[in-house]
Order: sequence, then C-alpha cells, then structure tokens
Amino acid sequence: MLWREVRLRWRTGTLRLLALCLAALLCTHFSAELKSKSLPQTRLIVKVPPKEPGVEVYHRRLEEVPSKRQVIYVRRSSKGASYGRHGGNARRDTLQPARWHIDLQPWAGPSHSLEEEAARFLHYITKSQITCSRFVANGLTDHYDDTLKPWTVCLDNKFSLAHQIKDKQCCVYSLGLGEEDNIFELNMASGGCEVHRFDPSIASAHIHEAERFWHHRLSVDWRDPNPAIAPHRLHSNTKKLKTILNEFGHWKIDVLKADMESAEWKILENLILEGIIEQIGQLVLEIHLHWPGFEVSGNDSSVVRYWYSLFKELEHKDFKLFYTYKDFSKPQLFLKKEVFNASSGYILSWVNTRWT
Ligand SMILES: *[C@@H]1O[C@H](CO)[C@@H](O)[C@H](O)[C@H]1NC(C)=O
Ligand SMILES: *[C@@H]1O[C@H](CO)[C@@H](O)[C@H](O)[C@H]1NC(C)=O
Repeated sequence: MLWREVRLRWRTGTLRLLALCLAALLCTHFSAELKSKSLPQTRLIVKVPPKEPGVEVYHRRLEEVPSKRQVIYVRRSSKGASYGRHGGNARRDTLQPARWHIDLQPWAGPSHSLEEEAARFLHYITKSQITCSRFVANGLTDHYDDTLKPWTVCLDNKFSLAHQIKDKQCCVYSLGLGEEDNIFELNMASGGCEVHRFDPSIASAHIHEAERFWHHRLSVDWRDPNPAIAPHRLHSNTKKLKTILNEFGHWKIDVLKADMESAEWKILENLILEGIIEQIGQLVLEIHLHWPGFEVSGNDSSVVRYWYSLFKELEHKDFKLFYTYKDFSKPQLFLKKEVFNASSGYILSWVNTRWT
C-alpha cells in the first residue's frame, strides 16, 4: 500500500516537473521568435563613402530611423558630379543599378565586314585624343630607355597625377603575370607613389620589395572565385579589382597599369560594368590583338566591334587617349592575319579627364 502511494507521488512529481520544463522551453522559444520578428529580416549594411567635393553624405544612426534600417542619403551638387584633385567617385555602384553588358556600337559599315571594323578600330587606337605636355615612360625618370616597353603616364599639371605625386597621395596598381621587369613600379615608388603589384607567380603572399612598393600574390580577374569552393582548395588566388580595392581599403587608383596577356578585355569590361573605372585616374594598358582574348566570342568582325565598343565606353566616361604605341617587336598579326598593317601588341594610355 505504502509503496504504491510513494510511486504515485513520484509519478505526479515527475509529470509536474516535465510540464514546467515544457512551459519554460515554449516561453523562451516564443520570446526569441518575437525578438527576431521585431528586427529587420535583412540588415542593410551601407558603408559611408569617403567625403568628396560635390557630394554631401548624411548618415543617420540606426535608432533614429523608424524602419530600423541604416539609411544613407547622398545629395549631389547641382553641377553634377565634380571630381576634385583627390579624384574618384567612390562607391557609386551602391547608387547605380548593376549593368550586365556593355553597349555595343553600331557596325562600322553595312556589310559587317572585318575590313570595316578593323579600319575603324585601328584608326581609333592610333590617334591620341588629348595633348599631354609631359609624358613620362617607365616611371618618373625623364631618361628614355628604348629596350623597355614604354609604360607611359602623363604628368601634365592639368591632370591630377602630377599633384597627387607632389602631395605624396598617389596610388599605383600594376597587374601582371610575372613576365615583366619592375622598372616602372620601382620608379613610381621612388617618386612618391604607393605601388601595389599583383602577380600570381611570386613565392609568398606579400612581399615588401622597397619603400612604398609591395607585391601581392593575387591575380586580377573579371569574377571572384566561386564561393562554393573552399579557399584552401583553390589553386589560384584570383579576385576582381573591386574586391581587392574593398579589402585594401583603397577608393581610388591614380594609375592602373595592366599587362594581362589577353585577359584585358574581360577585365576592362568588368571595371566598366561595376563602375570601378571611375575610381581610376590614368589607365595604361597593353592590348593583344592576335586572337580575340579570353572569353571573347563571335566572328572576327563581332570581336573587333566589341573591342571598339569597350574603348567607346571609356570615352563615354571621359577617358581620353593621350599616348599610343605600336609594338614592332611583336608579331605583326591582327586576329591571326598579316593584314591591315597592324601589330598584335599596342600600349595605350588614357587619362580620366573628370579628375582634373
Ligand atoms: C558576324 O556575326 C554577326 C552577328 O553575330 C553578323 O551580323 C555579321 O554579319 C557576321 N559577320 C560576318 C563577316 O560574317
Ligand atoms: C604601316 O604602319 C606604319 C606605322 O604604324 C607606317 O609608318 C607605315 O607607313 C604603314 N605601312 C603601310 C604599307 O601602310
């Protein structure tokens, strides 16, 4: 009898305990649910762009905004975007819708022939569009060495680079694939610029070669690595320039030099589509014309039209060609053909005339 009573009491006791536990569990669950509902589902993270002339930025704190989202207000001056000496229209991409393709120019002629396209393109890349009163090949020396490729910048006082160098505010990015000498980079660094060279072939992740001159084991690409692949399984370290700029905390590049062995077309397209081109003051590019380039497709006339359209996009962004060089040391081939009196390699330099 007594034994049964004890067992009964024990049972009701456990049942009560269980019920209590369950209630406590339900309570914490619901309160957590309520809390998560009162917070915005997706948090908008907006970085404040560096202050620049012509743009006023108002940044409201989280608590002041009823929707509890971070909101950024950007007001442009009535004159439109103005680009001071410090150049760069950083973070414009947060305000503009993403673009998926560049605008193709009309065909050069009614027959869509390669001859017409090539004539238009070659004429374009062999004529400068603006005068520069002081060219400097291979860095800041006035001494000219014709055994070197003429990587040329413009130090005319009417453009920002000359002032940026004087103020030691100059930043140079150099993209390459390990086959180049470093004369340009070394001279720019000793002239006062901070120089970052991106080259996937170097031995360690970062090398500090000289004062203001760093090498990084990175290759600039037109897309980021697939996020589904774990980083340690990636054999190469490639990133978009936009990603690198964000990671380095840079918001402008005074000179971008690139010799990307036919990857330049897709990289240039990516810089245009993502608005990164506007953060660049001078662009010094080696172009390769013996074949269409990585991931450039279509028949020959479409390829040349696409190349031309990329340069017209630059022109539309107020980039003016101030230097063009035909490389006679390379095979004189244009899309594998020995015609049009063209070379397979040219070096072209543009200045972003919005940065004056
Ligand atoms: C090349 O392709 C485009 C469209 O893809 C076409 O309009 C053009 O006529 C073609 N050109 C030649 C020369 O075949
Ligand atoms: C070929 O081009 C070069 C300059 O790029 C020029 O000096 C030369 O006269 C041209 N030759 C012909 C046959 O057009």
